[in-house]
Amino acid sequence: MGVIKDILRTMDYGPSPEGSEHVKAWLEEHKSGFGLFVNGAFTKPHDLFEVFNPATGEGIARATQGSPADVDAAVAAARKAQAKWAALSGFERSKHLYALARHVQKRERFLSVLETIDNGKPIRESRDIDIPLVAHHFYHHAGWASLIDSEFPGTKPVGVCGQIIPWNFPLLMLAWKIAPALAAGNTVVLKPAEYTPLTALAFAAICVEAGLPQGVVNIVTGDGATGAALVAHTGVDKIAFTGSTEVGRAIRQATAGTGKKLSLELGGKSPFVVFEDADLDSAVEGAVDAIWFNQGQVCCAGSRLLVAESVAEALYAKLRARMANLRVGDPLDKSTDVGAIVAPAQLERIKRLMREGEQEGLEFFRADESLPARGCFYPPTLVTGVEPASVLAREEIFGPVLVATTFRTPDEAVALANNTRYGLAASVWTENVNRALEVAARIKAGVVWINSTNMFDAASGFGGYRESGFGREGGREGVLEYRTADAPKIKPSSAKPARLNAAPGLPPAGAVAGSELDRTAKLYICGKQARPDSGYSYAVLDPAGREVGLAGLGNRKDIRNAVEAAAKAGSWGAATAHNRAQVLYYAAENLSARAAEFARRLRAMTGASARAAEAEVEASIRRAFVYAGYADKFDGAVHATRSRFVTLAMNEPWGVMGIVCPNEAPLLAFVSLVMPAIAMGNCVIAVPSASHPLSATDFYSILDTSDVPAGVVNIVTGEANALAKTLAEHDGVDALWYVGDAKGATEAEALSAGNLKATWVSASAVDWRQAEGREFLRRATQVKNIWTPYGE
Ligand code: NAI
Repeated sequence: MGVIKDILRTMDYGPSPEGSEHVKAWLEEHKSGFGLFVNGAFTKPHDLFEVFNPATGEGIARATQGSPADVDAAVAAARKAQAKWAALSGFERSKHLYALARHVQKRERFLSVLETIDNGKPIRESRDIDIPLVAHHFYHHAGWASLIDSEFPGTKPVGVCGQIIPWNFPLLMLAWKIAPALAAGNTVVLKPAEYTPLTALAFAAICVEAGLPQGVVNIVTGDGATGAALVAHTGVDKIAFTGSTEVGRAIRQATAGTGKKLSLELGGKSPFVVFEDADLDSAVEGAVDAIWFNQGQVCCAGSRLLVAESVAEALYAKLRARMANLRVGDPLDKSTDVGAIVAPAQLERIKRLMREGEQEGLEFFRADESLPARGCFYPPTLVTGVEPASVLAREEIFGPVLVATTFRTPDEAVALANNTRYGLAASVWTENVNRALEVAARIKAGVVWINSTNMFDAASGFGGYRESGFGREGGREGVLEYRTADAPKIKPSSAKPARLNAAPGLPPAGAVAGSELDRTAKLYICGKQARPDSGYSYAVLDPAGREVGLAGLGNRKDIRNAVEAAAKAGSWGAATAHNRAQVLYYAAENLSARAAEFARRLRAMTGASARAAEAEVEASIRRAFVYAGYADKFDGAVHATRSRFVTLAMNEPWGVMGIVCPNEAPLLAFVSLVMPAIAMGNCVIAVPSASHPLSATDFYSILDTSDVPAGVVNIVTGEANALAKTLAEHDGVDALWYVGDAKGATEAEALSAGNLKATWVSASAVDWRQAEGREFLRRATQVKNIWTPYGE
């Protein structure tokens, strides 16, 4: 350090390293290697892999590569502990969570330093953001533990949860996973990322110290193979994963048909939108937090700067000036802004993407190229003039690189913001509150920060739209991911599978006489009856094998047409909830007016008694009224997060939903599934009961006469599993509900991995008399959290 005179002249920062002796001593104690944490104790280390400090490249510890046998032991321990843990009163569980929170707080400095050494993030961030948020999450969920019975009636814990986390916020992601799981009465097996297992192992020691019962938390270290073994384990009831979209997709496929509950928090390419009336200086500080926080290794990083053309150059100039002040270097130094990239492989990935960008001739700006001589560092980078098609605008770089594109109108800004397969987060900068909220509503993302960025709070849900995954972490939404409904189940139905004896272009010969029954029912697409593309129809038989009518044999092309029609009817979701309620009431009334006719149809198709058929119609009418009533009452919430923020949790429709109905209860199941979906603003493609489709095809006229806009409900009859498969594979379908057999349920989930659409499947028969309520509305929506600041 120079003399005071020199310091005053240059005003340079001197070094200000955080002490790391305690951490080094702890690592030294474990230099023979870390075992796994199973059933409340550490196992003997084996198959050790090296853990590095990315800022120096030095090996700092060795951890065990968990084998399938280790995963087995950990799951068994979690299973053994689960019933007892769930049987504790919520209050007792909350005391354990408070104890964990307090112990984390007591060790904040140790954990911050360990996190920084293991991950490379600046100590300022681990000390001021990561670790305090960890304690916050445990405190927050201690509260939920004691409220669980009163706040989540009719639900129970899921059971044993397998949790797989990434390396960018190692201990924070652990807290996001473990705290809600434990609060909700589950036990866990958690696998930290192979680059950063150390704070999870320190947390295991905290569990012992805090007196957590054995087996409630188990930590198994290892790489993707260990993660895959956990995903595949039959003793696991739920998988919660945070990481890359690619692995998320593999997990979706691996869990398909297993009945495992799944939540995925995946990648992002989040827009950071700056309008011409934004406070540019604030926006620059926002950009620093959006993309240079944690070296840009943040799933919700504001990595795509979209800026109004008229202020773009001014903003770039301010950004460049600010970048010159960012200090890149030793993460343990308290004045470091940008630390190390987590590992050489990630650094190489960033460099590869940059090379591809350079080949496209893009303009790069880096304030200072001088980096520490050793370790994994990459300088903060601004890339301007980026076209939406550029690899840098499409791919998640996961590094300190901001790519900028300009726009001229708000519509163009929204279109660019949504021009991505992801939908995790967005940040909107404007001093005009009307514009801010309008744009926030139109951007497809799970979190929107207005005039702010990267705000996190345990009380607010966090999670993505589209290929950023599904499920939420934090707040009430997050706790629900760890509870399961005590849905009443009935015995599997005895309804016979449909016999689809195709009748190419046949006239409805042999159809039952009588004006209502003697026609070939067509498909219903975009508000019109449509002939099936195949030109085939199939005979609908009564239980005695007599033909009661013919239904169209829909195929892949019909589904495609229906999806197109549904996508075009998107304004339904933007209609006021009151308007939707009116349309649903009207449909319910029209169904009521034709109750006798619908009952006759049910009797003819299913052979039900007059009483049973009338009861099904009556229940369907009541259900339609219920969802008409709910349409404007399934409110969102205002979460109690930070001061001077209103955090609006909005229930938004998925958009286009596929709904595949079971064979049984042909009218009631159809109404029970379609009505909540459209009440919430979705447009649907419904595949009705394959054996008894005519109640649904009769429903066309109800839709026509009830002012349901064209395209809001599309109905494609035919072989349910084949049509479900097409719906699952279709990237234009945002969510899929399937009720049918095990094979169909498995396929629906596995094939949905393409665009990671949310699925809700059941392969066991449902008691349709009771299949009603808020759970259906929750499944028909996704929560968007909009953070709106106030005050000057
Ligand atoms: P990754 O998705 O491979 O790793 C995340 C976690 O999944 C780790 O614990 C890993 O061991 C585990 N894992 C890997 N393969 C698995 C499998 N087949 N089954 C179960 N678990 C498995 O991410 P990676 O390779 O470390 O990073 C690659 C890219 O992914 C990054 O550059 C970034 O773009 C993205 N990413 C996104 C994250 C987010 O928070 N959304 C976090 C980490 C990475």
